[in-house]
Amino acid sequence: MLAGFVTFEGIDGSGKTTVSHLVLEKLRSRGHSVFLTSEPTSGWLGDLVRRGIQEDVNAITESFLFLADRSVHIGQIRSHLEKGELVLCDRYADSTFAYQGARLVGVLPDPIRFLQNASRGWLLSPDLTILLRVSPELGMNRIKGRPMKIRFEDLGLLRRVAANYDRLARSRRFAVLDGARSAQVVSEDAVSTIERRLARRGRT
Ligand code: ADP
Ligand code: TYD
Repeated sequence: MLAGFVTFEGIDGSGKTTVSHLVLEKLRSRGHSVFLTSEPTSGWLGDLVRRGIQEDVNAITESFLFLADRSVHIGQIRSHLEKGELVLCDRYADSTFAYQGARLVGVLPDPIRFLQNASRGWLLSPDLTILLRVSPELGMNRIKGRPMKIRFEDLGLLRRVAANYDRLARSRRFAVLDGARSAQVVSEDAVSTIERRLARRGRT
């Protein structure tokens, strides 16, 4: 049985929600016990995040709202991991490092380091992070028809976010997949990446 904590990351429209659902179905059909969750959460702190963005709070406040939502979410993730399940999460800490890391430019020196420091000591580190890589133009094009949720739909910002993801993805925790392929192909690739990486982790 596969067990561990896998996060899906990427810019808006990279296909995280579509691919994570397909991965959930595929792994469940192979008999694995899988729990899929997402951030911002559906709890009251997630509502607060969405409210904060709507009210256009400043980038520091916004950052701490995302961190607060995550700090509660971690408790739920842990309880599933303790049952020996595989937990998939559509967006997690790297979203804060990439997005708020871009939003805080000019507000603080070295925003990504600031956000990583603010997470140190309590963050649950994923065993694997799958970055779905698409160009900001493709991401924007895919989401242009759908109703606005909370999204930072600005091409300039998404370019900075994409650059932050590329920087974060230098860590060995990441697997970078080409998200421009069909969702079926990307999800098959994600499933085999999860099987390979988590099996290797199980042996060490
Ligand atoms: P995200 O969660 O990363 O914002 P979504 O999964 O919501 O992305 O996908 C955004 C839009 O792009 C949706 O309309 C979805 O149907 C479409 N889409 C997702 N993945 C692909 C893909 N690999 N190829 C083409 N369209 C896709
Ligand atoms: P959502 O509507 O779920 O977008 P998507 O379907 O693209 O994932 O809203 C998530 C938005 O919030 C998205 O624009 C990214 C942003 N976000 C952050 O800026 N920081 C974070 O830590 C998280 C989790 C999300």
